[in-house]
Amino acid sequence: MNKSATVVLNNGVKMPLLGFGVFKLKEGTEVIDAVKTALRNGYRSIDTAYAYHNEAGVAKGIKESGISREDIFITSKVGNNQQGYKGTINAFHQSLKELKTDYLDLYLIHWPQEDLSIETWKAMEDLYEKGLIRAIGVSNYWIHHLEYFLPRCNIIPAVNQVEFHPHLSHPELLKYCEDRKIQVESWSPLMQGEALAIPEIQAIAIKTKKTPAQVILRWLVQKGVVVIPRSATRERIISNSQLFDFHLDNEDIRILDSLNRNKSMRPYFDKFMFLIRTLIYNKQKKHVWPVLAKATAYKANQKIKTYLGALNL
Ligand SMILES: NC(=O)c1ccc[n+]([C@@H]2O[C@H](COP(=O)([O-])OP(=O)(O)OC[C@H]3O[C@@H](n4cnc5c(N)ncnc54)[C@H](OP(=O)(O)O)[C@@H]3O)[C@@H](O)[C@H]2O)c1
Repeated sequence: MNKSATVVLNNGVKMPLLGFGVFKLKEGTEVIDAVKTALRNGYRSIDTAYAYHNEAGVAKGIKESGISREDIFITSKVGNNQQGYKGTINAFHQSLKELKTDYLDLYLIHWPQEDLSIETWKAMEDLYEKGLIRAIGVSNYWIHHLEYFLPRCNIIPAVNQVEFHPHLSHPELLKYCEDRKIQVESWSPLMQGEALAIPEIQAIAIKTKKTPAQVILRWLVQKGVVVIPRSATRERIISNSQLFDFHLDNEDIRILDSLNRNKSMRPYFDKFMFLIRTLIYNKQKKHVWPVLAKATAYKANQKIKTYLGALNL
């Protein structure tokens, strides 16, 4: 495996295992320089989104890198407020314009928006059929979302991009997606930097003479998960790509897998009524109950806090 290692998606399209994420990189010099540095140092995939407000800067970074468009895998995502059939068609063309390209390699539904996302998906299927997108996929779809969504799709998503890192390594979702030939892609693989301080990861880094970031990213690519780390720092952009000259052994992988806490970095829940609906329609109800229980506990906690706040306690 080297920096240009790819996975083959369910429609035969090749996607690089390593990509560069640009969330939070400021439009202008910051994102332009970061994208240019990444591409000049071997990255061949860029992950952006309408919601990141930096697609134009990504386009400039690509142009300044001197790498040709056909050699770069570009992902963007339809924003929550753009969803629905017409909204998605317009959003897609807007992204093409910003990114100065006439096709995307991958277009994702950024976040599930209940039944509205079924309309979004129809638009994405049409854009795909017209040859304007090489692969279409979803993001932030957990098993209970997919159970509801997949029977309503004509085309099975090629990719599911989810929060995936040492404290949230989704063994069941990974297996579920593998069984359905949906490629899992990790967002926030480094837990936005927080995972680098985990002692077990630091110990493996010392043993392998690699950085904690390289250990985490290597663990993910060895699991077959696509990674898109982000950095605004030149040295880190370069070192994060140096994943293909070492191997983690079974014991390292076991330790990294054991760090899973099923813990997202911040709570995000579906609407209560959607969860009830998924409970009715999903075949695998066992995946809905824990989400529903967590959502109920979270909502109750928020209500109690508001109530105590109002009483000044
Ligand atoms: N689909 C979604 O809903 C969704 C959500 C979030 C993210 N994403 C995608 O996933 C990508 C990656 O996730 P992320 O940006 O949230 O976070 P991340 O890649 O897990 O972490 C980025 C943070 O880690 C630091 N960092 C990177 N490499 C480092 C290193 N070698 N040593 C020390 N610190 C390092 C960076 O700081 P410096 O910049 O200072 O180096 C930055 O603060 C995003 O950019 C975006 O493309 C998608």
